[in-house]
Amino acid sequence: MTTIQTKTETKDVTGLSLIAAHSHISGLGLDDNLQPKENSQGMVGQLKARKAAGVILKMITMGKIAGRAVLIAGPPSTGKTAIAMGLSQSLGNEVPFTAIAASEIYSLELSKTEALIQAFRKSIGIRIKEETEIIEGEVVEIQIDRSITGGHKQGKLTIKTTDMETIYELGNKMIEGLTKEKVLAGDVINIDKASGKITKLGKSFTRARDYDAMGPETKFIQCPEGELQKRKEVVHTVSLHEIDVINSRQQGFLALFSGDTGEIRSEIRDQINTKVAEWKEEGKAEIIPGVLFIDEVHMLDIECFSFINRALEDEFSPIVIMATNRGISKTRGTNYKSPHGLPLDLLDRSIIIHTTNYSSDEIRTILSIRSSEEECELSSDALALLTKIGQETSLRYASNLISVSQQISLKKRQSQIELQDIKRAYMLFLDSDRSVQHVEEHKSQYIDDEGNVKIGLDEDKMETD
Ligand SMILES: Nc1ncnc2c1ncn2[C@@H]1O[C@H](COP(=O)(O)OP(=O)(O)OP(=O)(O)O)[C@@H](O)[C@H]1O
Ligand SMILES: [Mg+2]
Repeated sequence: MTTIQTKTETKDVTGLSLIAAHSHISGLGLDDNLQPKENSQGMVGQLKARKAAGVILKMITMGKIAGRAVLIAGPPSTGKTAIAMGLSQSLGNEVPFTAIAASEIYSLELSKTEALIQAFRKSIGIRIKEETEIIEGEVVEIQIDRSITGGHKQGKLTIKTTDMETIYELGNKMIEGLTKEKVLAGDVINIDKASGKITKLGKSFTRARDYDAMGPETKFIQCPEGELQKRKEVVHTVSLHEIDVINSRQQGFLALFSGDTGEIRSEIRDQINTKVAEWKEEGKAEIIPGVLFIDEVHMLDIECFSFINRALEDEFSPIVIMATNRGISKTRGTNYKSPHGLPLDLLDRSIIIHTTNYSSDEIRTILSIRSSEEECELSSDALALLTKIGQETSLRYASNLISVSQQISLKKRQSQIELQDIKRAYMLFLDSDRSVQHVEEHKSQYIDDEGNVKIGLDEDKMETD
């Protein structure tokens, strides 16, 4: 491999706006001094853990540390995953953040260690300075001919600077790019010649009066001068994993989109490591250690843990944040128990953040944030009951009842969720305690570990019949 490519095609997949479990969280909710605010950015309470996460955030953004392990430990639904998500939101776009659930690494296509290596390398960013050739100018006209069958498209792009004007033939890919970026005549754009990436820089001043109905966010710039094709120094950030994939010949670009990367040969990785180290020496690249978040980390086994131990000492290593709700439990693949199910040597390398259960006030606030996130309105006694349920069962169960009781209230054409709806939802859907109780009471009707089951009526009922 003589040259190593680092360019990926545009990879922004437009996110679905699903209401997910953590969609109300937009950061860690810290002030400028990294002190946690009681209720900010969707985050409520859990102050000590958030403050600790803030310190880690600071260390990460300074780019000073790598190869550290952080463990967030605490009871179920106390916001461990939420804090990690908040941290990722606060990191900004430059710092890579990869989140995996430990169980994801057990798949048929990849070995456990390969899956872990990929996750590690996705979490290391390389900021590369490069000269590339671009075409930069003001769009005069875009002409697209769609064939009747809708298959192949053709087109022409007329683009100019103050000194020259050229017409380029457009292929399918460029047409898609221009359509996606909503490029119109009058826009000043640049096109990266190697990757075909189109960037809209603004609208040309000469067209300013055509757009008096434009919003204030429209940026007007001068039509570029000189040659259309220029060399420009650009800085772009890719992850080590992306470089691996692009340069492993049988896979290439497409694998990045499908996620179907297969095993990557270790020689390729070695070559890339050497090259990146060289670039770093020459000042052409900068290494940005990102974050690898491994949720439910107790699902890893002893081999994975020892891999992590070693990987943390690697030249390129991210910060590894792990989360678990296990207490003293068995490490997978061994017969011994250890705190949080983590082997002691890894635990010894980790700094540990604890989360604790919420007070009823905090539960109320989180539930009301969740209900507005789900666009549900709760009457005040409904919220009070939900809070009580949250305290006695779990925050997660209470939060799940919101959307269920909304369905119940919608059926009655109410504008908000009333106490009755919460009660009804509570009766319809069991929390884990009541479910356990139910199973205990009807044990014989379920299939047990020996495969025994009693089909038909309960014994006591049979007797009375
Ligand atoms: N401090 C908080 N502020 C706002 N929302 C929170 C907070 N803590 C938890 N939540 C929300 O409560 C729900 C449960 O929290 P989360 O999933 O983070 O728990 P967890 O500690 O990861 O639990 P588990 O151990 O079961 O994985 C999520 O929807 C989360 O966004
Ligand atoms: Mg979690």
